[in-house]
Amino acid sequence: KNSPSPKDEESGYNKNLFCIPKHYEEDLETVFIPHGLILDRTERLARDIMQDMGSHHIVALCVLKGGYKFFADLLDHIKALNRNGDKSVPITVDFVIIKSYCNGSPTEKISIVGEELSTLNGKDIIETGRTMKALLSKLKDNEPKMVKVVSLLVKRTHRSPSYRPDYTGFEIPDKFVVGYALDYNEYFRDLNVSTYMSI
Ligand code: IMP
Ligand code: MG
Repeated sequence: KNSPSPKDEESGYNKNLFCIPKHYEEDLETVFIPHGLILDRTERLARDIMQDMGSHHIVALCVLKGGYKFFADLLDHIKALNRNGDKSVPITVDFVIIKSYCNGSPTEKISIVGEELSTLNGKDIIETGRTMKALLSKLKDNEPKMVKVVSLLVKRTHRSPSYRPDYTGFEIPDKFVVGYALDYNEYFRDLNVSTYMSI
């Protein structure tokens, strides 16, 4: 395994030991990945990515909305490496909005808004990889030199042959998670921690 992979039976941390906004306390089961752990892992991903990128100019493409926290934090770490390292590469940023979920279930149609060629994708979570494959086939039209996909979370799911991104933050059990910009019907994006919820 080349990413931390909490086991299926791992129940996470007691939510009462963390600061959870009052308006969400009732809805959440447990804190699964604390904010600090997400940031520590993101710092290492930034280092790995920059080591592999060489001197290629990077177009960082954020997959909204769920990817915005991870994208911003990952870029902060990459920028720090650019400031402090022996070499540095120019980075431009772009954004696409993709919608594939409603009421906690996948929708028929995957809609993609906004288009730009890219070499680096920052994504929130990959379940079956259906969304990512749709985006990748669209990006191909722009003939980018290289496309690398970074996903904070990848779910262990048996629902379809799973897609593997180039970089994975955590490989997690097949449960619905929210927080750190991941939503359930647009709620819970305003939570710092990644938490389990039952739906
Ligand atoms: P895939 O297309 O099956 O890989 O699903 C990926 C997309 O579904 C993500 O970009 C999210 O929008 C959504 N999604 C899948 N699982 C979760 C989850 O546990 N929490 C929040 N959103 C999820
Ligand atoms: Mg969503």
